Amino acid sequence: MDKTETMACYDIQGHTAIVTGASSGLGVTFAEALAECGGNLVVAARRYEKLTQVAEDLKDRCDVEVLPIKVDVSREDDVNRMVNTAVDSFGSLEILVNNAGVASLSPSVEMPLEEWKKVIDINLTGSFLCARTAAREMIKRKYGKIVNVASIYGAVGDIFHAAPYYASKGAVINLTRALAIEWASYKVNVNAIAPGFFPSEMTQEIFKNEDAMRHILSRTPLGRTGDPADLKAVLVYLASPASNYVTGQTIYVDGGWTAL
Ligand SMILES: NC(=O)c1ccc[n+]([C@@H]2O[C@H](COP(=O)([O-])OP(=O)(O)OC[C@H]3O[C@@H](n4cnc5c(N)ncnc54)[C@H](OP(=O)(O)O)[C@@H]3O)[C@@H](O)[C@H]2O)c1
Repeated sequence: MDKTETMACYDIQGHTAIVTGASSGLGVTFAEALAECGGNLVVAARRYEKLTQVAEDLKDRCDVEVLPIKVDVSREDDVNRMVNTAVDSFGSLEILVNNAGVASLSPSVEMPLEEWKKVIDINLTGSFLCARTAAREMIKRKYGKIVNVASIYGAVGDIFHAAPYYASKGAVINLTRALAIEWASYKVNVNAIAPGFFPSEMTQEIFKNEDAMRHILSRTPLGRTGDPADLKAVLVYLASPASNYVTGQTIYVDGGWTAL
């Protein structure tokens, strides 16, 4: 394989991607990465205004098509509409980034059942619904790349009181393996990215808390929190033919946290 062939492996020009949770945080970073590589995009979340801003920005900067769609990933009818609109608008669907997620901090003995269910419904059931519906399209064409966004907290616990979050992300990692095996014969690859700590709406209170930051840095061999740029190349690898022989895997982008 020469240099040109190696570079060609990463080519997603003209592919269509759905990125969920693309109204803020890491979802915007993932959408940017795919748009910068020439992918057409559906950006999906519940806050439509924010999605339209992301879409306009990416269209201007990257000369790709970007369609904002208001979606609650825990609602089956919304997810069906999202996938159908993507296929009707762009003609195919090659990439799904299952990034939408929420966290809630409560001691477990005080946690209302509704709070538990909300996190599981969005982080786990939402990821399953989007993967299932997208895979129906991908299987027809015998090509697809599904990238789930897990977390270091799918592999290890911590001092923060967030049991449903940890449980949902652990389940996402094993869902990744299960779906990868089920859909391997259709050439639909399913992998996950497990980030450490990155700035976003979800983590903004933690980033302001000096004790929490000391704890986080003490757990991170590379000695810093994540920068959005740290995630882009990993996503493009998992979303492109470069990763054709990789499935069911979770790549930890965590500064070494889970190696400690
Ligand atoms: N930041 C980190 O350090 C970190 C570390 C590990 C893993 N992660 C994971 O990365 C993903 C993105 O989180 P983030 O840190 O970027 O936080 P964020 O800024 O709060 O983004 C979360 C995104 O999910 C969307 N979302 C939430 N519920 C939704 C629903 N029911 N349907 C559709 N979209 C929904 C939100 O949009 P709307 O409110 O507009 O719906 C938002 O765009 C999550 O899965 C999170 O668990 C983050």
